[in-house]
Formats: sequence, C-alpha cells, structure tokens
Amino acid sequence: MLKARITGTGLYVPKKVLTNFDIEKMVDTSDEWIRERTGIRERRIAEEGEAASDLALMAAHEALKSAGLKARKLDLIIVATVSGDMPLPSTACILQHKLGAKKAAAFDVNAACSGFIYALSAADAFIRAGTHERVLVVGAEVLSRITDWTDRSTCVLLGDGAGAAVLEADKGDRGILSVKLNADGSMWDLLHIPAGGSRMPATEETVKKRLHYMKMRGNETFKVAVRTLEKLVLSTLKEHRLEPEDIALLIPHQANHRIISATAKRLGLGLDRVMINLDRYGNTSAASIPIALDEAVRSGRVRKGDYIILEAFGGGLTWASALIKW
Ligand code: UT7
Repeated sequence: MLKARITGTGLYVPKKVLTNFDIEKMVDTSDEWIRERTGIRERRIAEEGEAASDLALMAAHEALKSAGLKARKLDLIIVATVSGDMPLPSTACILQHKLGAKKAAAFDVNAACSGFIYALSAADAFIRAGTHERVLVVGAEVLSRITDWTDRSTCVLLGDGAGAAVLEADKGDRGILSVKLNADGSMWDLLHIPAGGSRMPATEETVKKRLHYMKMRGNETFKVAVRTLEKLVLSTLKEHRLEPEDIALLIPHQANHRIISATAKRLGLGLDRVMINLDRYGNTSAASIPIALDEAVRSGRVRKGDYIILEAFGGGLTWASALIKW
C-alpha cells in the first residue's frame, strides 16, 4: 500500500524582528503580560510589498532542496493560508508560476491555524489514491497585514512566516499513518474577519470601522482549544494502539505556551518531547506547524522511525492532528 512520506522540509521567516518591547510603544501592553500569558517574546514581520507567495517560495525552495527534487517534478501544490496574496487567484497558483512547477496542479486551503494539517491530509489522500506522486504542501502567512495594530488583544500574538514540506509516494512503512480533521462552524465568530468577502464587501465604511482585520474572542477560543486537543491526540494514539510515551515529539500549533503545556500535561508528556518555538515567531497560523517541523528535523529532534504527532486548533473552528512515522 502506498504511503505519503515527507522527504523534505523548509522554512522562511522575514528578517524584521518585532519584540514585545517594540509593541509596548504601539499599544497599552507590556513585555511581562505578553510573556506570561502567551510565551511570546518576538515575532517576524514581512517587508512592505512582501506577500504570502514570496515567503512560500523561499520555504518551498528549502524543502525541495532537502528532498533533492526539482520543482518541475511536482504533481501538486497545496498552500494553506488565510492571508494569501489576493482573493483571486489562489496563492498556490502564484507559487506554481514562481517555482516553474509547470506540471503541478495548485490550490489553496483555508482552515486557519489547522490549515497545514488539512492540506497535508489532502496531499496524503491524493498520494494514496495513486493519482499524484510528488506534492508540495506549504503553510504561508503574512498575518501582519490582517492584524489590527490598535487592538492589543490580537496584535501581540501574531507573526509572519512560511513552512513547507515535500511529500512523495513510498511503499515502505514510514510516512503519514493517519490524519484527523474536525470542524464546528457554529463557533465561526470566535475568530473571523468580518469584511472583505461577499457578506460584507469592502466599502469606505468597513475600512473606517477596521472590519478587514482579524477579530478574536481569545479566552473562549483558549478554553475550547485545551479541551479539544487532549481528546484529539488521545484518540489518534488509541487508533494506532500507541501510548503517549511512544511519541518522540509532539509538534503543536504555536498559539499559546499555556495551551501547549496544558495539553502536554494532560497527555503526560514532558516538555522535552514538545516542539516549542512561539517565543521567537508568535502565532503564524497555518505556517506554525511546518516551521516547527523544519526546525525539529534540522536540529535532530526527529529521527528515522520516530513517531511524531502534529496537532492544531484554529478559526472555523477547526482542529486536526496527524500521526507520522518519520
Ligand atoms: O491560533 C489559533 C486560535 N487562537 C488561540 O488559540 C488563542 C487562544 N487564546 C489565547 O491565547 C489567550 O486567550 C490570549 C493570550 C489571547 C489572552 O489571554 P487570556 O488569559 O485569555 O486573557 P483575557 O482575554 O481573559 O484578558 C485578561 C485581561 C483583560 O483585562 P481585564 O478585563 O481582566 O481588566 C484584557 O483586557 O488582559 C487584558 N489584555 C491585555 N493586557 C495587556 C488583553 N490583551 C492584553 C495585552 N496586554 N496585550
């Protein structure tokens, strides 16, 4: 039976660093509040004119290089993003052009912070169906453009970046073992951008009211996330008759250190087996897991044969997990 195996990973973050101390000068907040409530110290911010596909391109080059694959060999490109270059066309199509991946089909996935795992699941299904052999999956976000920099409850959290993974068909026992996708649209308004779509098209009024920026009811989202993630990871493990101690590394979406550590504690996993880098990048939505995955791989925290779990929770609401044998 065919499996989708990750054969290369890559990341790109913009050079500009915005520290908590910089944000102290912009809104009524403090480095202490941000660190204690979120674990974030700094985040990266894209240059003016730098869009999601520009970040995606750099991460994709790294991932292709580590997979030893030329872009022209790709069959499919999937980009997970909520801050794509423009509403039409997809950022995946723009990336396909920039990469010169002429043979590849291309589409975007919008599942907010769970986007990378949703995209990974699609790639896995195409590969297992035998219709596509080599797939590039990218999570790329320029959240700084959809952030209300006057709203302290969201602007301290977010950052820009991109991460990528190359998946290839493999007949061995390594690769994606299972992916779980979930959604509950009844809570769509916990995390949303009110204007700019067909419900509330852009007008002078919507711009004046700052309705094109992300709104989040953070505390409610937090509570649902902690409750949901533990169940999700446990059911993933149970299905494969694995125990938490069998997991070499948990790679969670990087939203809040308190969510990550609460989930790890409920699972009985020490933080030494949890990948955490949100102190340096903040919450980069769909990009956070592939960025963390690339850092984990390159630093030797994931080795051949290891079981790793990816998990995410975000707007939609959506939540998802993936169990991988590396
Ligand atoms: O990415 C996927 C989905 N997103 C998440 O998973 C995010 C989940 N939520 C969170 O991470 C947390 O809820 C936040 C970090 C967003 C907020 O932390 P919290 O502990 O839930 O704080 P809160 O919203 O309950 O606010 C507590 C207080 C409030 O003041 P009062 O009403 O107690 O006087 C806020 O106004 O903290 C205040 N506050 C701030 N103070 C200083 C909110 N933001 C800030 C800030 N600086 N930046």
